Amino acid sequence: MDEIVVGIDVGTTKVCTLVGRVEEDNSIRIIGVGIEPSEGIKKGAIVDLGAAAQAIANSVERAEHTSGVEITSALVSLASANVASVNSRGKVGVSGGIVDDYDVIRALEDARTIAIPGDRELIHVIQRGFVVDGQDGVRAPIGMHGYRLEVEAHIITALAASVENLRQSVASAGVEVAQFVLNPLASAEVVLTETDRQMGCVVCDIGGGTTDLAIYVDGDVWHTMVLAVGGNHVTTDIAHGLRLPIAQAEEIKKQYGHAIRAEVGLEEYFTIRPFGEDEPVQINRQELAHIIEARVEEIFSLTLQEIKRSGYDGLLPAGMILTGGTSALPGIRKLASKVMGMPVRTAKPENLVGLVDRLDSPAYSTSVGLLHWALSMSAQDLAPPRRRRMKGESNMNLDAIKNFFKRLLP
Ligand SMILES: Nc1ncnc2c1ncn2[C@@H]1O[C@H](COP(=O)(O)OP(=O)(O)OP(=O)(O)O)[C@@H](O)[C@H]1O
Ligand SMILES: [Mg+2]
Repeated sequence: MDEIVVGIDVGTTKVCTLVGRVEEDNSIRIIGVGIEPSEGIKKGAIVDLGAAAQAIANSVERAEHTSGVEITSALVSLASANVASVNSRGKVGVSGGIVDDYDVIRALEDARTIAIPGDRELIHVIQRGFVVDGQDGVRAPIGMHGYRLEVEAHIITALAASVENLRQSVASAGVEVAQFVLNPLASAEVVLTETDRQMGCVVCDIGGGTTDLAIYVDGDVWHTMVLAVGGNHVTTDIAHGLRLPIAQAEEIKKQYGHAIRAEVGLEEYFTIRPFGEDEPVQINRQELAHIIEARVEEIFSLTLQEIKRSGYDGLLPAGMILTGGTSALPGIRKLASKVMGMPVRTAKPENLVGLVDRLDSPAYSTSVGLLHWALSMSAQDLAPPRRRRMKGESNMNLDAIKNFFKRLLP
């Protein structure tokens, strides 16, 4: 039977379910797409269970319809301001004098035994690097000689109640959550190159309700954050500033918006019909850009502040990789680069195969990233060896094990 991978991106503005078929060359062909407007979700968190469940069910149904696949389980994106991340170190003694996969698992288990408050749920434990007998910077410890193994892990938790609400909304659509994946980690799967990860960079996914960040250094995730600001704030500012209904402000933003006032021609006008006006009114496009610029600049200032607070701001020579729906705003790359003081490029899913017409936008980086994540998980069977292997016995290749640990489930 064909191998199928399914991802559901539950965003603030849209729910996107994708069904992918894994091809012989291990690429993914997208065979099902369900994109529906979100309901009951604010700033990445569920605020109305029934409405959110309905939006998710609509999206799943549509993806089932286009693919002919019955969806029973999926990877689901997670991003809300209640996500927290912390780095932790796990230490174990290596009993046989040579590090094996069992030692690595024990070290990771030790790293995750940090005190996690009862109201939080563990989402990811990601290994960032190993230390063998005091020598740090070890990337693949299995097979190395040593007596003491330490692992640096990045641990991501979220408020348990909030995670449970999402799990329940997805369950109402008849789908079990195979794993939650933090939004920016999913997006990173499609927008980062190996060089970006190795050199050091920050992924910034600006959606409707949240700005999701993940810092990569030396090939691994070192820090993750979710800020509760996004494109919806820009729309609200426009609605207030020009006295328009939200839906109209959203349209105008997409049609005439620009992130840099000085780059818009003085003579450019468009027509709107504000509240309380009988006649249409001409608006200078610079006025619109002025409103947008102020808010977008604020989003990047907050982002910069968070990166500085993480202490990794000096380690990002590859700069910022910008994605998410809001990154489609003209001028945003330049403004980001000015505020952040680093190189910035915008990115979206590329080289897609299958039903891809609607996915050619940075808004779908997370959705497509979930499929990539599922693919690298399924490649390893998802079952870590729980017992010590007998000498000479090996049922997983080392690369697969290494990859598996990178995505280790809690
Ligand atoms: N061309 C455009 N110009 C400006 N903004 C745009 C454009 N296209 C989309 N957007 C904005 O992108 C946002 C939606 O992005 P996206 O689909 O990534 O969000 P989401 O995943 O639903 O939300 P979140 O990740 O924050 O929960 C909206 O605020 C929308 O106005
Ligand atoms: Mg999103």
